[in-house]
Amino acid sequence: VYKYNSCFMPSEMVACIAAEAISILESMHSKGYVHGDVKPENFLLGQPGTPQEKKLFLVDLGLATKWKDPATQQHVDYDQRPDAFRGTVRYASAHAHLGRTASRRDDLESLAYTLVFLHRGRLPWQGYQGDNKSFLVCKRKMSTSPDILCGLCPQPFKLFLETVVNMKFDEEPNYSKLISLFDVLIGPNPSIRPINTDGAQKVCVRVGQKRSRLINDDDDSNARKKIRLGVPATQWISVYNSRSPMKQRYHYNVADNRLAPHVEKGNEDGLLISSISSCVDLWAIIMDAGTGFTDQVYELSPHFLHKDWIMEQWEKNFYISSVAGANIGSSLVVMSKGTPYTQQSYKVSDSFPFKWINKKWKEGFYVTSMATSGSRWAIVMSRNAGFTDQVVELDFLYPSEGVHRRWDNGYRITAMAATMDQSALILSMPRRRPRDETQETLRTSQFPSAHVKDKWAKNLYLAGICYGRTVA
Ligand SMILES: *[C@@H]1O[C@H](CO)[C@@H](O)[C@H](O)[C@H]1NC(C)=O
Ligand SMILES: *[C@@H]1O[C@H](CO)[C@@H](O)[C@H](O)[C@H]1NC(C)=O
Repeated sequence: VYKYNSCFMPSEMVACIAAEAISILESMHSKGYVHGDVKPENFLLGQPGTPQEKKLFLVDLGLATKWKDPATQQHVDYDQRPDAFRGTVRYASAHAHLGRTASRRDDLESLAYTLVFLHRGRLPWQGYQGDNKSFLVCKRKMSTSPDILCGLCPQPFKLFLETVVNMKFDEEPNYSKLISLFDVLIGPNPSIRPINTDGAQKVCVRVGQKRSRLINDDDDSNARKKIRLGVPATQWISVYNSRSPMKQRYHYNVADNRLAPHVEKGNEDGLLISSISSCVDLWAIIMDAGTGFTDQVYELSPHFLHKDWIMEQWEKNFYISSVAGANIGSSLVVMSKGTPYTQQSYKVSDSFPFKWINKKWKEGFYVTSMATSGSRWAIVMSRNAGFTDQVVELDFLYPSEGVHRRWDNGYRITAMAATMDQSALILSMPRRRPRDETQETLRTSQFPSAHVKDKWAKNLYLAGICYGRTVA
């Protein structure tokens, strides 16, 4: 058994391990399983002096899960449970940190980190401690580009990492192509070239049939959609729903003292606030003629959130219909009559409170609005929200793939909020399906004024807006 701790393996040797490890994963995946905990400690070499001494083994199937249903051969369904992290923080894929259902791509991403570790002896996210460890490590993984992470490794490591972090949930890895990335390092006759590791052990792990060499690297991965490689950006995320024509009005860059005149003018014209948001401590408000509300009150408060005022309005049968927070800690809460809600509860938390949401789901509550203030979250949940199911997409970048998968399964975005680090989208299954289920999202660096007008022309109306972390 080779001890992998604190070693800097030569790149040819790591390339040999890469090639063999990929084919081990291919064989495991072909049986319908993902390993779930790929890391240096779980790779072992055979007993020295036996025919297996050059053979690599992957051990510890404790976290293995099925990626495909053995009966139907169907890929398991996509899901995200942000509190469901299992695995080893240092090597876990970003999707695993975020609690997404494990699939083949995750083993390969963990392998990429394993290879970089073996070659460089270190990963940039080592050394974090405490309750926030997984959060901080995931954030670091997602903000470390393959160029940076593999800056001191030969090109194949970077190409491998780039390919695997951009794989889709149910994408079939092209194992032989991944293996061939490393051919340039291993050379043409691997099986007769044992590699010397400090004289202690002779290792060449390349076994199995000879694979074709990578002739050049005009690899088509440049043409594929980059999921993780976008540049992190802070943007407006806006959501539009199709609905019958109505009057809608928006205001943005609204300073505290301009709020009341806008709202009063809207009320005079028969509009009520349907959603609100904050950007750089200025408010954005959307007012609709078709909210269905019968009465509305709002309060701008220096607190995030102002409990006494909310309790007072609850007493009078107003329910929170939208909420927003400014970075300086103030909040804007809108409460309305004529909502379908029968009971409401809210929580303010320093991190996204998925555990609390999960508990409330079990009690029949659904998330109906959300806000952030700095890195704090406020989540409002209501009974009788008109949903039959609800899911969360939480990510350090805009979770484009997750949103599309949820849309395909009939969910629609019903609440969202973002901090400078993370965006969270709540997607719900409506109890009564709208006749036209069209929903669109946009990400723009400026408030999407011009876009909103284009959407109106197509009977698409702003249904939600927030400002925060996305990917350009
Ligand atoms: C895998 O990649 C190789 C090399 O680019 C290509 O020839 C082959 O068709 C690919 N296989 C699949 C199943 O896409
Ligand atoms: C811990 O993580 C939360 C998000 O989950 C973040 O808002 C907070 O600032 C972090 N604390 C530290 C000390 O980094």
